[in-house]
Amino acid sequence: MAVNMKGKSLLTIHELTLEEVWQIFELSKSLKEKRLTGEPHRMLDGKKLGMIFSKLSTRTRVSFEVGIFELGGTGLYFNQNDLQLKKSENVSDTAKVLSRYLDGIMIRTFDHQDVVDLARFGSIPIINGLTDLHHPCQVLADLFTILEKKRTLQGLKLAYIGDGNNMAHSLLHGCAKVGMNISIASPSGYTPLDSVVAESQKDAKYMGSKIEILEDPIAAVKDADIIYTDVWASMGQEKEAQERKAKFMKYQINSGLVKHAKDDYLFMHCLPAHRGDEVVNEVIDSTNSVVFDEAENRLHVQKAVMALVM
Ligand code: CP
Ligand code: NVA
Repeated sequence: MAVNMKGKSLLTIHELTLEEVWQIFELSKSLKEKRLTGEPHRMLDGKKLGMIFSKLSTRTRVSFEVGIFELGGTGLYFNQNDLQLKKSENVSDTAKVLSRYLDGIMIRTFDHQDVVDLARFGSIPIINGLTDLHHPCQVLADLFTILEKKRTLQGLKLAYIGDGNNMAHSLLHGCAKVGMNISIASPSGYTPLDSVVAESQKDAKYMGSKIEILEDPIAAVKDADIIYTDVWASMGQEKEAQERKAKFMKYQINSGLVKHAKDDYLFMHCLPAHRGDEVVNEVIDSTNSVVFDEAENRLHVQKAVMALVM
């Protein structure tokens, strides 16, 4: 039975139910097919999506703007110099005002609390397009990609190698939600937040899957169905890049490391990739790599999210 998600915000995957996640995947599949066959799907005719970006973006920006357009609505883009938000006006006032003009907001920013507050004080759905803590849209698209390629999710093993950042957090939430096993290997001092691991443990326990937080990348990759990595220094951490590079070199995804995974493993990366750092060309350009399918699926999955919540 369909679950009514109208008006709901997407802040983290943890806050979605398993039924909601499957509903998003089902609609994503149907919207992807409609786009391929040219069948109109103007589910958000005349609706307005505000898109606020305090950080750079290629995939999120373009997929949301194309997505709302294809659904029959329109997207309004604001970069951090356009709005009064957090300059001469607090989040609460902006949330209340924008709720009078728009039907939904997608926001990419630094502080996750700003996105929580936007949802709390506004009266329209807020979609998290990445914060320092979470990147739920990316991971929904990633899980949908895995489902397309492997035909199942529950019981698969995903190895995430690298920084315990927003991607690691959303992958923890996402894998636990759908019953995938996740092994994370990070250098000491760069592990995911305990609070996010604890939230994920609850879902993992319910679904009968396993979460491992390790330091050894080889142990994490052992028999993995999916190897996932991300940049070593995220947006906002550019000054730490050199220091991090030295600490993360052992965590590079290269041919020596991937041989510990299953032969038919999928290589995944949210992109942008720093080729030669966290992954070598030989892996990201190999037939195991599905990075461009992930990027494409951002469009289909976010269209489903918008159509369901707006
Ligand atoms: N993966 C992702 O969110 O890419 P952008 O930073 O280009 O939006
Ligand atoms: N961890 C990266 C993800 C980019 C999509 C960042 O926050 O910059």
